[in-house]
Amino acid sequence: MNILAVESSCDETAVAIVRDGREVLCDCIASQVDLHRIYGGVVPEIASRKHIEAIYGLADQALQQTGLTKNDIDAVAVTYAPGLIGAVLVGVNFAKAAAMAMNKPLIPVHHIRGHIAANYIAYPNLKPPFLCLVVSGGHTMIVEVKDYTDMNILGTTLDDAAGECFDKVARVLGMPYPGGAALDKAAKLGDETKYNLPRSKPGENPYNMSFSGLKTAALNLIHHAEQVGEELDIPSLCASFSAAVSDTLVPRVVMALQQTGYRKIAVAGGVAANSRIRADILVAAEKLGAEVYMPPLSLCGDNGAMIGAQAYYEYLAGNTADMSLNAYATKSILGEAI
Ligand code: KG4
Ligand code: ZN
Repeated sequence: MNILAVESSCDETAVAIVRDGREVLCDCIASQVDLHRIYGGVVPEIASRKHIEAIYGLADQALQQTGLTKNDIDAVAVTYAPGLIGAVLVGVNFAKAAAMAMNKPLIPVHHIRGHIAANYIAYPNLKPPFLCLVVSGGHTMIVEVKDYTDMNILGTTLDDAAGECFDKVARVLGMPYPGGAALDKAAKLGDETKYNLPRSKPGENPYNMSFSGLKTAALNLIHHAEQVGEELDIPSLCASFSAAVSDTLVPRVVMALQQTGYRKIAVAGGVAANSRIRADILVAAEKLGAEVYMPPLSLCGDNGAMIGAQAYYEYLAGNTADMSLNAYATKSILGEAI
């Protein structure tokens, strides 16, 4: 089954064609990152306009690259939530029009389910059940993937997402948007013991996390150094910060593996590209004898292929939509309104 998949929830317009949930026939992406960089973050209105400009050309490009025609497309999938509402709407309206014009099923896909499904592309033999650490610009959670479309959230951040914190700290350090990757690179040359940053333990659910205290501590440290004229050791601050984020995430993943008995751990989302988190997960999983699944960096960030992968399983589960499909800025990975 060939699925034409559309993703436009943030600052990448993407159209992919994926066969049977696992085989990526093409993955076309138009990134707007350079454009938003001058503003230090995504400007929603500009993002929506750029999606409109890019999406038709990308769909043509996808067909041309694969040599397929519209008749070879069996369904159209789209990220319908969550994301910048204007941006998500562009993809949803395009997908609705394409599905209607081609008289094919329309499959709505939750963006975070798509991130998890990037693992199915990277690991053709991976099947649920497994645990997944989801770390993106807007979400941070530990998910029990019981089946392809049946999930349970064990714990989540109670405030900021890990990616948001990486970006904010990187921005204050003068790194270009989105700063996570630059901060990660700088951290490799630093001493992680140099700065003492907090690891929070919020609330009653031991799987829940908080990053706002860490973010504020890092920002206060930077501002204080500026005020007193102290020169910061930026690589070491980046290393200390990355260690604090990883120390917030990885022990909870270990606890989840131990308490649930799962022996497979996957990571997903843009922050899953972080070298410190990847290394710590590998070490922790090895100690527990758990299998680790980590998509290549190209599949960690937003892309259309991951939407096409998840769409196949949503389709098999009967999760299709009609022309009344709407876009949502927020929606739980379980499909509930937030
Ligand atoms: O999943 P994603 O592409 O978009 C959302 O769905 O939010 O994640 C983007 C986030 C940004 O915050 C970006 O800075 C972060 O992923 N990111 C990283 C790294 N690469 C991307 N954060 C830390 N280390 C990295 N190597
Ligand atoms: Zn994403």
